[in-house]
Amino acid sequence: MEIIRTPRIMRDTSKGHILRGKNIGFVPTMGSLHEGHLSLVRRARQENDIAVVSIFVNPVQFGPSEDFNRYPRDVEGDTEKLVKEDIDILFMPDITAMYTEDFSTYVEVEKISEKLCGVFRPGHFKGVTTVVAKLFNIVTPTRAYFGQKDYQQCVVIKKLVKDLDMDIYIVVCPTIREKDGLAMSSRNAYLDSTQRAASTVIYRCLTEASEMIKSGIIDFGHIKKVMHERISKEPVVSGIDYVGIYDPSTLDELSGIKDEVLPAAAIWIGNTRLIDNMLVKT
Ligand code: PAJ
Repeated sequence: MEIIRTPRIMRDTSKGHILRGKNIGFVPTMGSLHEGHLSLVRRARQENDIAVVSIFVNPVQFGPSEDFNRYPRDVEGDTEKLVKEDIDILFMPDITAMYTEDFSTYVEVEKISEKLCGVFRPGHFKGVTTVVAKLFNIVTPTRAYFGQKDYQQCVVIKKLVKDLDMDIYIVVCPTIREKDGLAMSSRNAYLDSTQRAASTVIYRCLTEASEMIKSGIIDFGHIKKVMHERISKEPVVSGIDYVGIYDPSTLDELSGIKDEVLPAAAIWIGNTRLIDNMLVKT
């Protein structure tokens, strides 16, 4: 596995592969890799000649009061895991290489970025789309892999690629969960044992909502109330950003049935923000 730290070398290396007719599969990450990340890595490895993973904790997508400084970092452990997955290139740029002192260009996907998580994390998706656009320009992948766990991120990135005519196929991979249902996330490391035990409430509430929808209940107002009650009953929950049933394409809250619906929630356990969702075919 080759480790590349500068955007220019990464771009030249990709160019070489493309000239030789190879296709490139790319998994952008912020590191502290778990089985969720690795499921994307394995898929990229299987489906492409060249597999590239990036690790870059992108300061621009964190709000001023968010967890950029304490975000978990484990370069050594991550490198070991990626060697085992037999990927070709690990791209690990420095912040100063990605954001030079005079950096002043941002990429923003309007409207869809302002819904759900966008309401509570203003500027977050602008930071994500800016760094992903940069990474796409540097790595020039054929396919890029994202997790359904961050459902809104997938929708926003698909829109970015469509609106800016990027020739990249976005592959959305299923959410990988712990045995008890908690969606894997680098942020789960923040939870103490009491919080960790209670954190499954988000999975339980989404499962219950999915079952209610599948059983033919179409009063989404009622289902939302049940979801809200279940979460607020949990003493370790310190806040609810949103909970409800949403349109998977527009991310607007749904009041009635559609062929595919998205129960989703974002909650706080102590100082840790957790998100999860499920796609339900009706
Ligand atoms: P990060 O949170 O490190 O996630 C990297 C990728 O792994 C994302 O596509 C995310 O959806 C996916 N992922 C995380 N947990 C998962 C799980 N349990 N199952 C399946 N996939 C999972 O998302 C980001 O980084 C950043 O915003 C990034 C796109 C790298 C831009 O900075």
